[in-house]
Amino acid sequence: MVMDATNPSLLFLLLLLLLLLDRGLSLVVAGSYQNLTVGSNLSSSGPNSSIFSPSGDFAFGFWPLDTDSSLFLLAVWFNNTSPQVVVWFATNNTNPVQVPAKSTLHLTQAGQLSLFDSNGQEVWSRDAANATGVSLLDSGNLVLYDSSGALPWQSFQNPTDTILPGQSLGENSELRSKLTSSDFSTGRFELAVQSDGNLVLYPIAIPTGNVYRAYWASNTQYDKKLQLVFNSSGSLYYQVENSSQTSLTSAAMYSPTDFYERATLDPDGALRLYVYPKNNNNNSGSTNTWTVVGMLPANPCQKIQADGDGGGGACGFNAYCNFDDDQSMQLNCECVLGCKFIDTNRTYLGCIPDFTVQSCDEYQSNQYMFNEMPNMDWPGNSYEHYTPTDEDTCRALCLADCLCSAAVFQGVDCWKIKMPLTNGGQGMSVGGKALIKVPKTNASFPAHGSLNTITVVKKDRSALILIISVLLGSSGFLNILIVIAAAIVSFSFCNRTKDKKNQMEQTMLGSNLRVFTYKELEEATDNFREELGSGGFGVVYKGALAAEFRTAIAVKKLDRAAAKESEQEFTNEVRSIAQTHHKNLVKLLGFCNEGNHRMLVYEHMSNGSLTSFLFGCTRPEWNKRAQIVLGIARGLLYLHEDCTAQIIHCDIKSQNILLDDNFIPKISDFGLAKLLRADQTRTNTAIRGTKGYVAPEWFKNSAVTAKVDVFSFGVLLLEIVCCRKNVQMEAATEEATVLTYWAYDCFKDGRLDLLVDGDEEAMFDIKRVERFVMVAIWCIQEEPSLRPSMRKVAQMLEGAVAVAVPPDPSSYISSIV
Ligand SMILES: *[C@@H]1O[C@H](CO)[C@@H](O)[C@H](O)[C@H]1NC(C)=O
Ligand SMILES: *[C@@H]1O[C@H](CO)[C@@H](O)[C@H](O)[C@H]1NC(C)=O
Ligand SMILES: *[C@@H]1O[C@H](CO)[C@@H](O)[C@H](O)[C@H]1NC(C)=O
Ligand SMILES: *[C@@H]1O[C@H](CO)[C@@H](O)[C@H](O)[C@H]1NC(C)=O
Ligand SMILES: *[C@@H]1O[C@H](CO)[C@@H](O)[C@H](O)[C@H]1NC(C)=O
Ligand SMILES: *[C@@H]1O[C@H](CO)[C@@H](O)[C@H](O)[C@H]1NC(C)=O
Ligand SMILES: *[C@@H]1O[C@H](CO)[C@@H](O)[C@H](O)[C@H]1NC(C)=O
Ligand SMILES: *[C@@H]1O[C@H](CO)[C@@H](O)[C@H](O)[C@H]1NC(C)=O
Ligand SMILES: *[C@@H]1O[C@H](CO)[C@@H](O)[C@H](O)[C@H]1NC(C)=O
Ligand SMILES: *[C@@H]1O[C@H](CO)[C@@H](O)[C@H](O)[C@H]1NC(C)=O
Ligand SMILES: *[C@@H]1O[C@H](CO)[C@@H](O)[C@H](O)[C@H]1NC(C)=O
Repeated sequence: MVMDATNPSLLFLLLLLLLLLDRGLSLVVAGSYQNLTVGSNLSSSGPNSSIFSPSGDFAFGFWPLDTDSSLFLLAVWFNNTSPQVVVWFATNNTNPVQVPAKSTLHLTQAGQLSLFDSNGQEVWSRDAANATGVSLLDSGNLVLYDSSGALPWQSFQNPTDTILPGQSLGENSELRSKLTSSDFSTGRFELAVQSDGNLVLYPIAIPTGNVYRAYWASNTQYDKKLQLVFNSSGSLYYQVENSSQTSLTSAAMYSPTDFYERATLDPDGALRLYVYPKNNNNNSGSTNTWTVVGMLPANPCQKIQADGDGGGGACGFNAYCNFDDDQSMQLNCECVLGCKFIDTNRTYLGCIPDFTVQSCDEYQSNQYMFNEMPNMDWPGNSYEHYTPTDEDTCRALCLADCLCSAAVFQGVDCWKIKMPLTNGGQGMSVGGKALIKVPKTNASFPAHGSLNTITVVKKDRSALILIISVLLGSSGFLNILIVIAAAIVSFSFCNRTKDKKNQMEQTMLGSNLRVFTYKELEEATDNFREELGSGGFGVVYKGALAAEFRTAIAVKKLDRAAAKESEQEFTNEVRSIAQTHHKNLVKLLGFCNEGNHRMLVYEHMSNGSLTSFLFGCTRPEWNKRAQIVLGIARGLLYLHEDCTAQIIHCDIKSQNILLDDNFIPKISDFGLAKLLRADQTRTNTAIRGTKGYVAPEWFKNSAVTAKVDVFSFGVLLLEIVCCRKNVQMEAATEEATVLTYWAYDCFKDGRLDLLVDGDEEAMFDIKRVERFVMVAIWCIQEEPSLRPSMRKVAQMLEGAVAVAVPPDPSSYISSIV
């Protein structure tokens, strides 16, 4: 027979064949499904390499590990997702069993499932007395069944790194991560359901397998049976025998009828809940992907920390993890400035210096200098601690010491550190500045980076600051770093030397601010039609920029007070607002300044204000609320300490916290208090008799400092914890009318449960509730000097430092007044 290649159907079949061969998989005719029965074989090469679940959603068989199909795993995978994902694989002591081409899987008469390699050597087997067949169920469970219908062996009871809806883990079972996304070898993390009733996540030492200190635990320890359950409606929780369920992540529930779902202990140590839309109704041809909808722990960067025993933390040695990305569901690991990854395919191994490491033979301190990294620390690494000291002394002390590889300076503290650096973390909430010692010849680091030009500018006192001026195709992280670096540079200049560069930097930073005409904004807001809200400074309208893909905007029309300022003053203030860049601040896009019309244009926040979120019909999840608290604290910390010039907000309240698509909180209206200077001498008429968000020093003649924001934040924090407004006339009891008083009473009486009554999630996390409430009570101290700084607040909230027992907020004041 002659093949006619012009025949369309034949051509199609040929293409299909090529496609299949290319994938290294020869599959049974699509849609066909069969059980593996006694006498029949699966073979890694040949037509029968896999069987399917009746729905076709899952396949079981030989999974090619490489493109040339020379090595296979015996595995179960999602067949209809792109990419296909392995959810179970055959292992020998947690190591994947890898077999060459021409290997076969065979069910013997005796009911033994055996895997033979190409030499006929048995490399894996499951002995299930009298099994008569192997079947892959629609749940993805691979089972051996016998003639009585019993299931003597199931993959669901022998999980690898993934569990599926309908699967649960009982005591003494575990998930083990893979080494990397493409390397199925035993990885560095384990999730264990322990017989003591605890669910625990451990880092593991490779290759010996000993465990380091746990980085997450359910802390149930009831000595009762605990189960990890992924139920068939897609709910992932753990449950101690006969007690209530606790969700593992804050993810909403996705219905398994519409989504493929899996929970996988990923190579980076996070247990992630993934979903993939099934598209069973609409053949939209849309590009579906696996999406992370939940993660445990919620902040792996901060949680996976090595202790004295060893291990490199979340990112390995000489690397660091970016805390500010915690909410992105991915771990962002980078090498410390001047270092490079040991192996870019296995970044967890960490980084090594990309320069000749100092040696104590012939050490000459004048041949070294420091690479600086802001907001960075390596907790628990130091071998020497000096205090009080200043930064110059800190640098000198480390330079003089041939053992010192880096120093961290914060406030008046200086820590000397040796390599390898572990537990590296960077984030807005991290106080320290890292100084990494490098040879002067190597000072203009990264040979492997993507920075194009690096200008070195001399600062007074001969220390150097690096201005990274041109940046192309850099990673998001570098961008952030550069913004921070630029901010620091301009800060230093403003404060120390009046330099021509100052002018230049300011225009550079301010230049992304757009100047709008009144007419443009009138059009964008459809003649100021839709009002989003009105605050102390004016009315906010919703709008959209037609020319820019209809980007939604919020336009704040400032009321007359602002119009009194001179044009120059107004522009300067606006520019200073524009120089703030932080994930927890609403971004200023531009402004309008035409005669009496003064307007500010912000990005629009789709989820409205915290007020409606907190005090709406349903109580928002505790985890989400806790994340919001941390976000607001970081934003305020940035305003107070980290931006070019300190900004005191003066009006922190739930209406001024907006929520973006991902419910990340953004502080709005900052910088306006200064703009409306006259307004700062407000009188107390508006708040008579009740305590609002307003700090008591407003009513006195004492100076207003950043501590007024700390006070307001404390009130807001209580509102978020308790999901109620500070003043509630219809409160259950009279004592509960004013939240700030009541919270202290509850705390004093050890009745925190009253504050989160009916909130099971919060009740379960009562330790954190307690921490938050204690921090709040510190914040609402009537005496400003007793209130902690926002830096301290952020650290306390995150659990980085202990929280002391707070005094009665009014005790100090009543003794003087
Ligand atoms: C399994 O996946 C392959 C490759 O994507 C596809 O060709 C095949 O039809 C699928 N099988 C079933 C039973 O859905
Ligand atoms: C495959 O095995 C299942 C039991 O797991 C059984 O219910 C089903 O009938 C079998 N199908 C075939 C085609 O033998
Ligand atoms: C299945 O494999 C076994 C062991 O390799 C072999 O003895 C048997 O002949 C094979 N059966 C078929 C039908 O290929
Ligand atoms: C593949 O499986 C089918 C159905 O069990 C069987 O009829 C066929 O002989 C098998 N092919 C080979 C090459 O084993
Ligand atoms: C399983 O691994 C052990 C070592 O961990 C090895 O001795 C044994 O041969 C392996 N079994 C098979 C079937 O490969
Ligand atoms: C397996 O079958 C044999 C013979 O039918 C029987 O004697 C034996 O008890 C069975 N084993 C199990 C575990 O069911
Ligand atoms: C799964 O758990 C959720 C939450 O506890 C519950 O609402 C749902 O009914 C459960 N589904 C099944 C099938 O048990
Ligand atoms: C849990 O409940 C079951 C029945 O619902 C009961 O038999 C068992 O004793 C209970 N266990 C404990 C520890 O209370
Ligand atoms: C399918 O598409 C139609 C029209 O585009 C839409 O109305 C319907 O909601 C879609 N169904 C699903 C399940 O996405
Ligand atoms: C990383 O992986 C790629 C593709 O698998 C390979 O080509 C490359 O050689 C690997 N690099 C290292 C350093 O092993
Ligand atoms: C640092 O200096 C050494 C020796 O001069 C050189 O081998 C190395 O490539 C340099 N590294 C970088 C990043 O420039």
